Amino acid sequence: MPARTTHLQTFIDAAHDTIAARVKAGEPAEAACGRIFKALETGQAQHTPHRKEPPRAWTHLRGALETATSSAGPTAALANALGAIEPELCWQRRPGAEDVPGNFADGHTNATIVGEGGLEVRGDVRIGVSLLAPHVTYPDHRHPPEELYAVLSPGFWRQDAKPWHEPGLGGVVYNHPNVVHAMRSTSTPLLAVWCLWTGPG
Ligand SMILES: [Fe+2]
Repeated sequence: MPARTTHLQTFIDAAHDTIAARVKAGEPAEAACGRIFKALETGQAQHTPHRKEPPRAWTHLRGALETATSSAGPTAALANALGAIEPELCWQRRPGAEDVPGNFADGHTNATIVGEGGLEVRGDVRIGVSLLAPHVTYPDHRHPPEELYAVLSPGFWRQDAKPWHEPGLGGVVYNHPNVVHAMRSTSTPLLAVWCLWTGPG
Protein backbone atom coordinates (compact mmCIF):
# COMPACT_ATOMS: atom_id res chain seq x y z
CA MET A 1 0.00 0.00 0.00
CA PRO A 2 1.25 3.54 -0.57
CA ALA A 3 3.10 4.53 2.58
CA ARG A 4 1.16 6.71 4.98
CA THR A 5 2.99 9.03 7.27
CA THR A 6 3.15 7.81 10.84
CA HIS A 7 1.08 10.85 11.79
CA LEU A 8 -1.79 9.92 9.47
CA GLN A 9 -1.73 6.25 10.45
CA THR A 10 -1.76 7.19 14.13
CA PHE A 11 -4.72 9.49 13.52
CA ILE A 12 -6.69 6.77 11.68
CA ASP A 13 -5.96 4.23 14.41
CA ALA A 14 -7.00 6.71 17.12
CA ALA A 15 -10.24 7.56 15.28
CA HIS A 16 -10.99 3.85 15.03
CA ASP A 17 -10.27 3.29 18.74
CA THR A 18 -12.46 6.23 19.78
CA ILE A 19 -15.44 5.19 17.67
CA ALA A 20 -15.15 1.44 18.25
CA ALA A 21 -15.12 2.05 22.01
CA ARG A 22 -18.63 3.55 21.86
CA VAL A 23 -20.60 1.83 19.10
CA LYS A 24 -22.89 -0.96 20.23
CA ALA A 25 -22.82 -4.46 18.80
CA GLY A 26 -25.42 -5.07 16.13
CA GLU A 27 -26.27 -1.40 15.54
CA PRO A 28 -25.82 0.35 12.19
CA ALA A 29 -23.03 2.45 13.70
CA GLU A 30 -21.01 -0.68 14.39
CA ALA A 31 -21.42 -1.85 10.79
CA ALA A 32 -20.42 1.60 9.49
CA CYS A 33 -17.37 1.64 11.74
CA GLY A 34 -16.39 -1.81 10.48
CA ARG A 35 -16.81 -0.84 6.81
CA ILE A 36 -14.90 2.40 7.09
CA PHE A 37 -11.90 1.18 9.04
CA LYS A 38 -11.66 -2.15 7.18
CA ALA A 39 -11.30 -0.15 3.95
CA LEU A 40 -8.66 2.05 5.58
CA GLU A 41 -6.45 -0.96 6.23
CA THR A 42 -5.33 -0.34 2.64
CA GLY A 43 -3.74 3.01 1.93
CA GLN A 44 -4.24 4.97 -1.26
CA ALA A 45 -2.37 7.82 -2.96
CA GLN A 46 -0.88 10.30 -0.51
CA HIS A 47 -1.35 14.02 -1.09
CA THR A 48 -0.13 17.31 0.34
CA PRO A 49 -2.97 19.85 0.43
CA HIS A 50 -2.20 23.44 -0.43
CA ARG A 51 -2.66 25.16 2.93
CA LYS A 52 -4.22 28.60 2.77
CA GLU A 53 -4.89 31.16 5.46
CA PRO A 54 -7.38 29.38 7.76
CA PRO A 55 -10.80 30.97 8.38
CA ARG A 56 -11.18 33.01 11.56
CA ALA A 57 -12.79 30.20 13.56
CA TRP A 58 -9.52 28.25 13.36
CA THR A 59 -8.17 30.41 16.20
CA HIS A 60 -10.31 28.28 18.55
CA LEU A 61 -8.56 25.06 17.57
CA ARG A 62 -5.68 25.19 20.02
CA GLY A 63 -7.95 25.63 23.03
CA ALA A 64 -10.31 22.89 21.87
CA LEU A 65 -7.42 20.48 21.37
CA GLU A 66 -5.99 21.30 24.81
CA THR A 67 -9.31 20.45 26.44
CA ALA A 68 -9.56 17.18 24.53
CA THR A 69 -5.96 16.10 25.11
CA SER A 70 -6.41 16.51 28.86
CA SER A 71 -9.34 14.06 28.84
CA ALA A 72 -9.09 10.36 29.58
CA GLY A 73 -9.18 7.39 27.25
CA PRO A 74 -8.90 7.14 23.48
CA THR A 75 -10.23 10.67 22.94
CA ALA A 76 -6.99 12.20 24.21
CA ALA A 77 -4.98 10.11 21.77
CA LEU A 78 -7.27 11.18 18.93
CA ALA A 79 -6.90 14.85 19.85
CA ASN A 80 -3.12 14.46 20.03
CA ALA A 81 -3.07 12.76 16.63
CA LEU A 82 -5.26 15.50 15.18
CA GLY A 83 -2.90 18.12 16.56
CA ALA A 84 0.02 16.36 14.85
CA ILE A 85 -1.56 16.38 11.36
CA GLU A 86 -3.29 19.74 11.73
CA PRO A 87 -0.43 21.81 10.19
CA GLU A 88 -0.79 19.79 6.96
CA LEU A 89 -4.54 20.38 6.56
CA CYS A 90 -6.30 22.96 4.46
CA TRP A 91 -8.99 24.60 6.62
CA GLN A 92 -11.92 26.02 4.71
CA ARG A 93 -15.46 27.28 5.03
CA ARG A 94 -18.31 25.12 3.84
CA PRO A 95 -19.22 26.12 0.27
CA GLY A 96 -22.16 28.54 0.39
CA ALA A 97 -21.52 29.43 4.05
CA GLU A 98 -21.69 33.16 3.32
CA ASP A 99 -25.37 32.73 2.40
CA VAL A 100 -26.27 31.35 5.85
CA PRO A 101 -27.77 34.05 8.09
CA GLY A 102 -26.05 34.80 11.40
CA ASN A 103 -22.50 34.04 12.52
CA PHE A 104 -21.95 30.71 10.75
CA ALA A 105 -19.68 31.94 7.94
CA ASP A 106 -16.98 33.28 10.28
CA GLY A 107 -17.85 30.88 13.08
CA HIS A 108 -16.92 27.55 11.53
CA THR A 109 -14.19 25.80 9.60
CA ASN A 110 -13.73 22.30 8.17
CA ALA A 111 -10.72 20.37 6.90
CA THR A 112 -10.61 17.15 4.91
CA ILE A 113 -8.19 14.52 6.21
CA VAL A 114 -8.97 11.49 4.03
CA GLY A 115 -10.63 11.84 0.61
CA GLU A 116 -10.37 14.39 -2.18
CA GLY A 117 -8.43 17.40 -0.91
CA GLY A 118 -7.09 15.56 2.13
CA LEU A 119 -3.86 13.79 3.01
CA GLU A 120 -4.93 10.55 1.31
CA VAL A 121 -6.98 10.60 -1.88
CA ARG A 122 -9.61 7.87 -2.10
CA GLY A 123 -13.25 7.47 -3.08
CA ASP A 124 -14.60 4.99 -0.54
CA VAL A 125 -14.06 6.89 2.71
CA ARG A 126 -14.09 10.56 3.55
CA ILE A 127 -12.81 11.77 6.94
CA GLY A 128 -12.58 15.33 8.11
CA VAL A 129 -12.85 17.64 11.07
CA SER A 130 -15.27 20.43 11.91
CA LEU A 131 -14.70 23.26 14.35
CA LEU A 132 -17.30 25.74 15.59
CA ALA A 133 -16.49 28.89 17.53
CA PRO A 134 -18.60 29.38 20.70
CA HIS A 135 -22.34 30.00 20.20
CA VAL A 136 -22.46 28.92 16.56
CA THR A 137 -24.92 26.53 14.90
CA TYR A 138 -23.85 24.36 11.96
CA PRO A 139 -27.17 24.40 10.14
CA ASP A 140 -29.30 21.49 8.99
CA HIS A 141 -27.69 19.48 6.24
CA ARG A 142 -28.02 16.02 4.74
CA HIS A 143 -25.98 13.75 2.48
CA PRO A 144 -26.40 10.26 1.06
CA PRO A 145 -23.37 8.70 2.83
CA GLU A 146 -23.92 7.51 6.37
CA GLU A 147 -21.76 9.30 8.91
CA LEU A 148 -20.01 8.73 12.23
CA TYR A 149 -18.81 11.63 14.37
CA ALA A 150 -16.17 11.25 17.07
CA VAL A 151 -16.94 14.10 19.46
CA LEU A 152 -13.93 15.93 20.92
CA SER A 153 -15.65 18.70 22.89
CA PRO A 154 -18.87 19.77 24.56
CA GLY A 155 -21.67 20.69 22.16
CA PHE A 156 -25.07 19.53 20.95
CA TRP A 157 -26.25 17.43 18.00
CA ARG A 158 -29.72 17.02 16.50
CA GLN A 159 -31.28 14.71 13.92
CA ASP A 160 -34.55 15.48 12.12
CA ALA A 161 -36.97 17.16 14.54
CA LYS A 162 -35.67 15.25 17.57
CA PRO A 163 -34.45 17.18 20.63
CA TRP A 164 -30.85 18.39 20.76
CA HIS A 165 -28.59 15.99 22.65
CA GLU A 166 -25.07 16.26 23.99
CA PRO A 167 -22.86 13.21 23.31
CA GLY A 168 -20.03 14.63 25.43
CA LEU A 169 -16.28 14.38 24.97
CA GLY A 170 -15.55 10.93 23.56
CA GLY A 171 -19.13 10.41 22.41
CA VAL A 172 -20.09 9.07 19.01
CA VAL A 173 -22.95 10.23 16.78
CA TYR A 174 -24.28 8.08 13.94
CA ASN A 175 -26.26 9.59 11.08
CA HIS A 176 -28.27 7.33 8.79
CA PRO A 177 -27.98 8.07 5.07
CA ASN A 178 -29.79 11.30 4.22
CA VAL A 179 -30.94 12.10 7.76
CA VAL A 180 -31.21 15.87 8.32
CA HIS A 181 -28.73 16.86 11.03
CA ALA A 182 -27.21 19.88 12.73
CA MET A 183 -24.83 20.69 15.58
CA ARG A 184 -24.22 23.68 17.79
CA SER A 185 -21.59 24.87 20.22
CA THR A 186 -22.24 26.33 23.64
CA SER A 187 -19.89 28.73 25.46
CA THR A 188 -16.89 26.66 24.33
CA PRO A 189 -15.81 25.60 20.82
CA LEU A 190 -17.20 22.44 19.25
CA LEU A 191 -14.67 20.05 17.71
CA ALA A 192 -15.54 16.78 16.01
CA VAL A 193 -14.04 14.31 13.55
CA TRP A 194 -16.49 12.94 10.98
CA CYS A 195 -16.22 9.81 8.89
CA LEU A 196 -18.36 9.18 5.81
CA TRP A 197 -18.71 5.87 3.99
CA THR A 198 -18.71 6.82 0.31
CA GLY A 199 -17.96 3.37 -1.07
CA PRO A 200 -20.39 0.86 -2.56
CA GLY A 201 -23.55 0.32 -0.50
FE1 LIG B 1 -22.87 15.57 8.09
